[in-house]
Amino acid sequence: MALKSLLLRPPGATMTPQPPVLLLFLLLVSTQPCSFALDFLFNSFNSTNPGVDLIQDARVDSSVIRLTNDSNQYSLGRAFYPTRINMRSSPSQNGTASSTLSSFSTSFVFSILPQIASSPGFGLCFVLSNWTNPPGALASQYFGLFTNATVPVQAPLLAVEFDTGQNPEFNDPNRNHIGIDLNNIESAMTEDAGYYNSSGGFVPVSIGNGQNIHAWIDFDGVDLVINVTVAPVGIPRPSLPTLTFKDPVIANYVSADMFVGFSASKTQWVEAQRILAWSFSDRGVAKDINVTNLPVFSLPSSSSSLSGGAIAGIVIGCVAFLILFGFGFYWFWRQNKLKDEEEDDIEDWELEYWPHRFSYEELTQATNGFSNDQLLGSGGFGKVYKGTLPSNKTEIAVKCVNHDSKQGLREFMAEISSIGRLQHKNLVQLRGWCRKSNELLLVYDYMPNGSLDRYIFTSSRNRSNKLLNWQQRRQILADVAEGLNYLHNGWDQVVVHRDIKSSNILLDSDMRGRLGDFGLAKLYSHNEVPSTTRVVGTLGYLAPELATMAVATSASDVYSFGVVILEVACGRRPIEMGKEEEDDRLLIDVVRDFYAKGKVVEAADERIKGEYGAEEMEMVLKLGLACCHPDPQRRPSMREVVALFVGEDLEVAPAEFLGALAAGGDAIGAGGVVAQT
Ligand SMILES: *[C@@H]1O[C@H](CO)[C@@H](O)[C@H](O)[C@H]1NC(C)=O
Ligand SMILES: *[C@@H]1O[C@H](CO)[C@@H](O)[C@H](O)[C@H]1NC(C)=O
Ligand SMILES: *[C@@H]1O[C@H](CO)[C@@H](O)[C@H](O)[C@H]1NC(C)=O
Ligand SMILES: *[C@@H]1O[C@H](CO)[C@@H](O)[C@H](O)[C@H]1NC(C)=O
Ligand SMILES: *[C@@H]1O[C@H](CO)[C@@H](O)[C@H](O)[C@H]1NC(C)=O
Ligand SMILES: *[C@@H]1O[C@H](CO)[C@@H](O)[C@H](O)[C@H]1NC(C)=O
Ligand SMILES: *[C@@H]1O[C@H](CO)[C@@H](O)[C@H](O)[C@H]1NC(C)=O
Ligand SMILES: *[C@@H]1O[C@H](CO)[C@@H](O)[C@H](O)[C@H]1NC(C)=O
Repeated sequence: MALKSLLLRPPGATMTPQPPVLLLFLLLVSTQPCSFALDFLFNSFNSTNPGVDLIQDARVDSSVIRLTNDSNQYSLGRAFYPTRINMRSSPSQNGTASSTLSSFSTSFVFSILPQIASSPGFGLCFVLSNWTNPPGALASQYFGLFTNATVPVQAPLLAVEFDTGQNPEFNDPNRNHIGIDLNNIESAMTEDAGYYNSSGGFVPVSIGNGQNIHAWIDFDGVDLVINVTVAPVGIPRPSLPTLTFKDPVIANYVSADMFVGFSASKTQWVEAQRILAWSFSDRGVAKDINVTNLPVFSLPSSSSSLSGGAIAGIVIGCVAFLILFGFGFYWFWRQNKLKDEEEDDIEDWELEYWPHRFSYEELTQATNGFSNDQLLGSGGFGKVYKGTLPSNKTEIAVKCVNHDSKQGLREFMAEISSIGRLQHKNLVQLRGWCRKSNELLLVYDYMPNGSLDRYIFTSSRNRSNKLLNWQQRRQILADVAEGLNYLHNGWDQVVVHRDIKSSNILLDSDMRGRLGDFGLAKLYSHNEVPSTTRVVGTLGYLAPELATMAVATSASDVYSFGVVILEVACGRRPIEMGKEEEDDRLLIDVVRDFYAKGKVVEAADERIKGEYGAEEMEMVLKLGLACCHPDPQRRPSMREVVALFVGEDLEVAPAEFLGALAAGGDAIGAGGVVAQT
């Protein structure tokens, strides 16, 4: 055990002056993890001799590490210190792993610069990992470290994320936060990016605008604490950390020897993630980085207002010039090319949404020149064509939307893009767009099974489609509820769909429901002069308050969804046309009548009799009526609706919800549209 006592460092002792012979001896003799102190400082990186292992797309570009490659659609890059660091210094006497981990301190300077400020951000991670290629890591998202599986797996991987994007499905608070990730993209803890100043006030810091950010991480292996501090370069190290994570669970994510470094990834949007300098020590405080002459990065538009060192100025100047030149050239070329083929100008605003743009030529080719054979339908907003992208044979649906003003199109694009990564399994994915004159072509994923209305009503048009059984119908309602809940609650801003109806619900290849056309209705309401605002939506699905207020809200979406629930459960259209106009009957009134008589289940679709439990059907119909409550305040939220659908059993609805239903019973049974005076 003499060796072991040599290997165990007394606290505070320094190892550097070890005689080389002893070091060599220890290296040769010891097969156990060695505990040589690691202490390094890179104030810049040398491209011929970077000093770190660059993995996949990471590279050194004029003295800084660039983690991803802009020209690849999917890119991931990692930079690791070449040797592992020792995290568990001594196995304990009885063979089990020692409970004491090593401590370390590190600091680094990074810059995250998106090409388009509003594009979804990606960020970067400082990482401790047992592997340089963590198994299951996606090349596109999640920092290039994690899988998309939401179930955390206990494995030695611990990351500190500097996240400039928001994944609401993983509870990200915003687009500018730091977090502790324990082998899971869903952070164990997050804090807004910023620092505490000398008087203890929190100063928010934007980490995703390209400015150089200084970060400090202290890992206390004895008490199992991770402190993270961030501040813009130039601010002295704040004394209070931004984030303190203290949890014994940390030990489960640390192996005996770990690689230490950085990782980042991206999809089609360009975001330059740079590591400018890095200092690390596992025997005390990491050496100070000299931040005086670090390069500065920014987008070309703001470069003129920057002042800095002479070198920084030159670097920015050159970069800006090159980018402007390239951009200008591209713009010029594009404009000429488009003038030739489309005789149409590209508006400045369109450049912002460029990454998703399809060329008109490509879409013409994909749809056989918009031939009638490819026509899938023509709805309220325009014609929809089926197409196949020539490049990768993907099937798409192209919706042609006509609009009288470019302004309306622009606002619509802003809405779609500000929502950023609007992606959910229950939404029809928008793949991109193309504008030709006042026509906007929206490219969606193709849904092979068409829309829900073709499977629940019998009419001459859909005789060929088989009816959906109750199980499928319930599943589709649950799917759509989830999709709509995501629009309402998945983002900082509430996205109101405005036109929910069964013909806007599409069925994918597995007959699962997906909501289409979100936001489109808004395009049309924008078009109107405010004083004459037209109510947008579809008759039969419109909430009564829209007649007086004309402002769509999430509650009016809930109303429309309630109508869809009733349609699907009853197999009847929202308005049954009679011979005379007076014979028209609203489905809601029909169901309300049954409800008032205390036998609401009799409203259910006869053709699926026997497939459902009476209690379950009763719950679904009551839920539909509750969603259609005349008072928007008393409708349930989509969150509550989802909880009911996704919950164990509809029959065992939460007591408070049933209570609310009962309380609203009078109004449910009151029938008709209640006009407020
Ligand atoms: C980079 O490393 C190479 C090889 O080690 C060396 O010759 C060169 O001087 C270094 N460059 C800088 C800028 O330090
Ligand atoms: C980025 O990737 C492309 C294609 O994969 C490659 O040709 C190019 O050299 C890469 N760029 C850099 C700067 O590494
Ligand atoms: C042996 O392991 C147990 C539990 O892992 C620990 O509590 C105990 O202190 C260890 N004994 C020695 C002598 O290290
Ligand atoms: C860490 O990696 C090493 C080498 O790849 C492997 O032998 C070991 O099992 C890994 N440790 C854990 C806890 O997975
Ligand atoms: C994870 O990604 C893989 C491949 O991209 C995909 O097949 C799988 O469905 C995804 N899983 C989840 C839960 O999103
Ligand atoms: C610290 O921050 C708070 C709030 O951000 C601010 O009001 C205060 O003036 C700051 N104090 C100093 C010393 O900068
Ligand atoms: C972490 O921060 C707390 C204050 O929040 C401090 O008490 C503690 O000493 C710090 N630990 C390390 C390892 O820096
Ligand atoms: C930092 O670097 C600059 C030159 O790049 C030098 O003048 C200055 O003395 C350095 N500061 C420290 C504290 O080493």
